Amino acid sequence: MIPAVARPAPLVSTEGTTGREEWALDPAQRHINHGSYGAVPRRTLAFQQALKNELEANPLQWFDTLPDRMAAERAALAAFLGAEPHEIAAVPNASAAASVMFGSLRLNAGDEVLITDHVYGAVALGARRFADRWGAVVRVAAVPLAAGAEESLDAIASAVTSRTRVAIVDHISSATARGFPIAEIVELAQQHGFTLLVDGAHAAGILESAAEVAAGTENVVWFGNLHKFPAAPRPAAVLVARGALADATHPLIDSWGAGLPYPDRFDQQGTIDTTGFLSASFGIGEIERLFGWAELRRYGAELGAYAVSILAPALGEWVDDPVVELGMPEPLQPLLRLPEGVAADAAGQRALKNALSREAGVEAGVMTWNGGGYLRLSAHAYNEAEDYERLLERGIPVIARIAAEHSRAH
Ligand SMILES: Cc1ncc(COP(=O)(O)O)c(C=O)c1O
Repeated sequence: MIPAVARPAPLVSTEGTTGREEWALDPAQRHINHGSYGAVPRRTLAFQQALKNELEANPLQWFDTLPDRMAAERAALAAFLGAEPHEIAAVPNASAAASVMFGSLRLNAGDEVLITDHVYGAVALGARRFADRWGAVVRVAAVPLAAGAEESLDAIASAVTSRTRVAIVDHISSATARGFPIAEIVELAQQHGFTLLVDGAHAAGILESAAEVAAGTENVVWFGNLHKFPAAPRPAAVLVARGALADATHPLIDSWGAGLPYPDRFDQQGTIDTTGFLSASFGIGEIERLFGWAELRRYGAELGAYAVSILAPALGEWVDDPVVELGMPEPLQPLLRLPEGVAADAAGQRALKNALSREAGVEAGVMTWNGGGYLRLSAHAYNEAEDYERLLERGIPVIARIAAEHSRAH
């Protein structure tokens, strides 16, 4: 039985506007997949445009003063991220942060790189290329969806060997939208002396002071996107490191700052547009002023629960257990199981995502993991109960049609 949840009223800002009015998203569609590419408020876009105007008015002055602006922005982001300004390096995106680490770390032949079966696909590809380059191997720890903190830690710990040099664990996973016991995995890394990369692509903003979990550790690097939940203009991300590991970490693009210490050498990467990164703390501050981050998280969790309460019974006609029982759930991104054969592979995932967009007017997070299809919902300040009601009314029939086609064919 899925408990009924009261229909939440839209989140209203201190200026009387709704989240939907504040965001630049196309109102013809319902956007319930913040996790893939984020979405930016109008005020943040206006701030970024003013920076772009300044750049275009005098590119020479802009690039001369850019390192100082970047350093000031890193300092402005520190409290929100739960890290010190001198630990924060600017990178374009989480993929770049992972690539920076794969390019900076050294391995020996026969070493092991440990990942889980939840690690983001593109990061896993990077890990394999990194391991191949050094004649090392990738070991994958399987963590069941329902595994709680203890079982998840056990699954990862039992895959650690005397050859483990580097491990990559998601703070919050992408396809399965679940948390991992990062504080305990940080301890595991200390005990065994391996380098831990925490992929916080989804964690910044969803979790308060997300990077704090690695505070004071010299063998743990945390990275996260500012263009996902913090709603900065793309691309904007950070890598957080300290000590000898930070000293050995270099940007993907060698530029005039190459000889500078970490993280200053990341502030200059040739001629690139960093106005997205430079708008991040403004946007985060505006969300705090208009809605409050704590209130946004509370609202998102309530809205997520409401979405599950209306969608799961409808999916229940096609799936025995539509609500995925996650061991470490993440309330702003609840996960629903799709009927057998729906979005079970990459082609099916794309087909359903496009059908929901075209036929139902809903931009949804359709995920494929271990041969099963999932709907990863999301609830941000701009979402309203009506978004998930549209998915119920117009999207569930699309899913039911694809499920029926599959069952006829098999
Ligand atoms: C867990 C995780 N890691 C890394 C990434 C890559 O982020 P980006 O495309 O911004 O580099 C994503 C993107 O969704 C993600 O979910």
